[in-house]
Amino acid sequence: MKVSIIGGGGLVGSCAGFALQAGGVVREIALLDVNADLAAGQALDLLHGAPSVADQVITSGGYEHVADSDVVCITAGLRRKPDESRLDLINRNVDLFVGILTEIKKAGLRQNAIVMVVSNPVDVLTYLAADMLDLPSRQVIGLGTQLDTIRFRALIAQQLKLAPTQVAALILGEHGDTMVPIWSSATAAGLPLDKFSGWSSNLANELFTRTKGSGAEVIKKKGGAGFAVGIAIRDVIHSIALDQQRVLPVSSVQAGCYGIRDVALSVPTVVGRGGVVATHEIDLWPKEIQGIRKSGQTLRQTIDTVMSRLGAAR
Ligand code: 2OP
Repeated sequence: MKVSIIGGGGLVGSCAGFALQAGGVVREIALLDVNADLAAGQALDLLHGAPSVADQVITSGGYEHVADSDVVCITAGLRRKPDESRLDLINRNVDLFVGILTEIKKAGLRQNAIVMVVSNPVDVLTYLAADMLDLPSRQVIGLGTQLDTIRFRALIAQQLKLAPTQVAALILGEHGDTMVPIWSSATAAGLPLDKFSGWSSNLANELFTRTKGSGAEVIKKKGGAGFAVGIAIRDVIHSIALDQQRVLPVSSVQAGCYGIRDVALSVPTVVGRGGVVATHEIDLWPKEIQGIRKSGQTLRQTIDTVMSRLGAAR
């Protein structure tokens, strides 16, 4: 499987490239970036490590890599300022993103290609990509709350001194301020989280609040997230590459799950080689379902603003 990473010269794109290299599953990784030298430098740096990892083709270049790619991952975009919400970013990123989608369309996509959106605000841009690209919407996936979910799990594990791989706790809805913690199904080693010593509703709130602010926290400390985003991207791309059919909290345009339509956000989604194979409307606490629906309403407002601005410009 060939993966092209648009924005592959940048922090998120290069970390995604490294995560895919270390994962050793995909056959070819192409880093595309407006800064061609930077992408070439990242690709060369990855290539040097190849003999100790896997037999993969690692290249860089332009949109000529898109036409024979199985997955096109879009990470390019301006980063948030520490006090800026992902939705605030929209005005600065939409024009850049539309330019990328236009180049992708010009280059042409394989009929079964999957386009994966990482750029923020990821849910709005996932909707825009599904609207603009000539692909079935099931083949357009946003990273959504997969990153928030692994952060959530990591912080819970750290607090309770548990093995991070044994903590299962989901975040759904918007990858943004209205994201929803799904406590109703949170477990550690298959046991209910709230049965572990030291657990309390205050601690639960603190952990969720820190999860929601993790993007801004990392931006403040090091300018922007990269490693965990790369891992989250790898989780999704491996489920596509291996047709794993994993249920992941990724963003896609909804067609009725939890009563939500015509907006992209994260619900439990089966991810395989065809992209979104199915969504699972698992029974959640009423306030969790209300939270996901609130995400939908918030995102819909921004989508309406963006689409009317683009419509006016078209
Ligand atoms: C984050 O939360 C980049 O949106 C991403 O760090």
